[in-house]
Amino acid sequence: MRVAKLFNLVSALALFAFVGTAAAAGPAQPTAVLTSADCVKCHEQPPKDIAAAGGKHKTEVTCQDCHVGHPPKVKKPIPQCSQCHEGKPHFKLQGCLGCHSNPHTPKVIKFGNNVTDPCLTCHTGQIEQLRSFKSKHSALNCSFCHNVHGRIPECTQCHKPHANDMTAKDCKVCHQAHKPADVTYKSDTPSKMCAACHSKAFKLLTSSTAKHSKLACVYCHQAKHKMVPQCTQCHVKPHPAAIMAKFPKCGECHSIAHDLNRWGDAAASAPAAAPAKPAAPAKPAKPVKK
Ligand code: HEC
Ligand code: HEC
Ligand code: HEC
Ligand code: HEC
Ligand code: HEC
Ligand code: HEC
Ligand code: HEC
Ligand code: HEC
Ligand code: HEC
Ligand code: HEC
Ligand code: HEC
Ligand code: HEC
Repeated sequence: MRVAKLFNLVSALALFAFVGTAAAAGPAQPTAVLTSADCVKCHEQPPKDIAAAGGKHKTEVTCQDCHVGHPPKVKKPIPQCSQCHEGKPHFKLQGCLGCHSNPHTPKVIKFGNNVTDPCLTCHTGQIEQLRSFKSKHSALNCSFCHNVHGRIPECTQCHKPHANDMTAKDCKVCHQAHKPADVTYKSDTPSKMCAACHSKAFKLLTSSTAKHSKLACVYCHQAKHKMVPQCTQCHVKPHPAAIMAKFPKCGECHSIAHDLNRWGDAAASAPAAAPAKPAAPAKPAKPVKK
């Protein structure tokens, strides 16, 4: 190895000497010009890296596009990134090699867990969400969660599910990563998921014999967490106006939505002011199954 190195050094010096003389002797002479194919004779690692993961630094440029000249003639033939990369906000960042740690493998990117601003040179949607919907995620750095570029973490890496039968996929039914405290859900969300935190309401409703027990939580509590509907959203004018004027609150007779009073068929047990057959629910038409 030492011998090889020494030989390389000697041949390098010889080569540069030769190049020098050839140049001095004029263009007519046959010249031994240092080419990018020669580099590998003395430099092992950079050609290896470029071959393995050079990306566009392999296909779009050669060694010598970046390394113009060679020691001893040119003391430090190391290029600035800005020689070729200009004109985008990303190229105004400091310390390119801090992330692109090896220019011979430019797409192999490393960064610590405290990076946010550099990400914003390319991604803007996420920071807008994080800022407009304040949550504890808004205070975290992007790379706290995305510690390798492009990697999407699972929520359950950092959080316990609300129930044992809840998986990482379920989280997105109610949460979005960049606005996690803004809980919204679709109309097909199973009631069991709500039951993880509302076991009382769940039990009360599912053990009731009234028709509401066939409805999903989200059929009534639509789209956004903590939304509470009015009975009259669905039951428009259920009883004659005179009765409603006398008893403005539905709950006075019907109790609560999760556990409606059942008077059975016995008209006798109905309240004195039992109204005429009320109107069927006007909206929504088709109850969603739990
Ligand atoms: C014959 C051997 C030899 C060949 C061929 C050769 N080099 Fe070198 N190179 C050296 C040696 C020896 C040094 C160290 C010189 C010094 O530090 O003064 C060096 C230094 C360098 C440096 C500077 C490293 C630093 O840390 O400053 C770069 C860049 C470089 N070479 C690139 C190339 C490229 C690109 C090629 C092909 C076009 C090439 N070399 C071909 C032997 C060679
Ligand atoms: C896109 C530009 C670019 C290309 C293409 C490129 N290099 Fe480099 N090279 C650099 C930069 C920048 C550095 C300085 C890295 C640093 O400071 O950590 C470097 C460092 C080096 C060094 C000295 C440090 C080391 O890693 O040993 C050598 C030798 C070298 N390159 C050789 C090569 C060879 C040989 C090729 C072609 C196979 C090549 N480079 C292609 C930009 C390039
Ligand atoms: C001699 C010109 C030159 C220099 C110097 C140079 N690059 Fe490049 N680089 C290119 C070209 C050409 C491309 C391909 C076109 C493009 O993506 O802009 C490229 C592409 C890249 C890519 C994308 C690679 C891919 O495969 O998609 C990265 C990342 C990169 N350069 C980073 C750097 C960094 C960091 C430096 C400084 C250490 C640097 N470049 C220095 C010419 C250069
Ligand atoms: C905080 C880390 C970080 C810093 C600092 C950084 N980059 Fe990047 N760079 C990235 C990431 C991440 C990508 C995206 C890679 C991908 O597309 O897979 C990237 C992509 C690139 C690309 C290819 C995409 C494009 O827009 O052309 C180039 C070229 C590039 N960087 C050059 C630079 C230069 C030059 C600097 C210094 C001025 C620099 N980078 C500083 C992280 C960084
Ligand atoms: C130079 C531009 C650039 C920079 C800087 C950059 N990215 Fe990217 N990022 C990209 C590109 C290009 C893609 C791939 C295309 C896409 O899916 O949007 C990507 C993809 C991603 C993805 C995966 C997207 C998906 O749908 O799978 C995540 C996550 C990501 N980047 C996060 C980050 C974070 C965090 C940072 C800062 C540490 C960062 N990026 C810095 C350009 C960049
Ligand atoms: C890399 C770790 C990490 C990942 C991945 C992660 N979080 Fe968090 N999350 C945190 C930390 C740290 C906090 C703040 C905890 C605290 O201060 O108590 C937090 C807080 C929260 C909060 C409370 C927000 C508030 O303002 O009260 C919710 C909700 C949340 N995360 C949901 C999620 C969901 C859903 C996912 C997946 C889309 C997820 N998290 C992914 C680390 C993470
Ligand atoms: C608390 C952890 C966490 C933080 C902090 C975080 N992300 Fe994400 N990010 C995620 C998760 C989880 C996903 C996957 C979301 C999905 O699949 O719906 C994601 C998705 C992405 C995507 C893919 C496209 C998209 O929007 O779904 C990009 C790009 C991204 N994040 C960039 C960023 C950037 C930039 C920042 C900082 C401004 C950031 N993230 C902060 C956890 C986080
Ligand atoms: C059915 C909807 C729903 C699903 C599915 C769901 N969450 Fe939540 N999550 C909520 C609601 C609602 C809150 C807010 C409770 C409050 O206001 O205190 C919450 C709060 C949180 C919090 C902050 C409070 C706490 O309990 O620490 C974290 C963290 C969290 N969820 C993580 C997750 C994770 C991880 C998943 C997936 C395994 C998940 N959530 C699935 C509805 C859901
Ligand atoms: C992570 C636990 C959690 C999950 C999952 C959850 N909630 Fe809640 N929910 C809460 C907490 C905490 C409150 C506030 C309780 C309080 O203020 O006493 C709440 C309050 C409510 C309220 C009452 C709002 C008010 O003004 O009184 C409704 C309605 C509600 N949730 C419906 C749902 C529905 C529907 C689901 C399923 C899609 C669900 N919740 C899933 C934790 C959760
Ligand atoms: C989101 C719509 C919705 C809301 C809000 C709602 N209901 Fe209903 N309700 C229904 C549906 C659907 C039925 C079943 C109709 C059927 O099957 O004929 C029903 C049935 C009923 C019945 C008949 C029960 C039975 O078993 O025969 C009563 C009484 C009733 N609702 C009262 C109320 C009261 C009181 C409230 C408010 C506390 C309320 N509803 C809120 C949709 C709703
Ligand atoms: C038929 C419509 C309807 C259905 C189905 C329904 N709710 Fe409600 N919920 C209401 C109404 C209306 C209220 C307001 C109080 C009242 O009048 O009963 C309410 C109140 C609540 C409250 C706050 C008061 C309390 O009881 O803690 C929570 C939490 C709640 N519902 C959760 C749920 C959950 C979880 C489910 C599914 C298991 C569910 N609801 C199913 C209509 C409904
Ligand atoms: C004074 C008592 C009273 C009040 C107040 C009252 N209801 Fe009723 N409601 C009844 C009785 C009694 C019945 C018939 C019960 C039966 O047939 O089992 C009934 C029937 C209904 C039905 C139809 C049940 C079916 O089988 O078709 C709906 C829907 C209804 N009420 C909704 C409401 C709503 C919504 C309110 C408030 C706006 C309300 N009610 C206020 C006593 C009342």
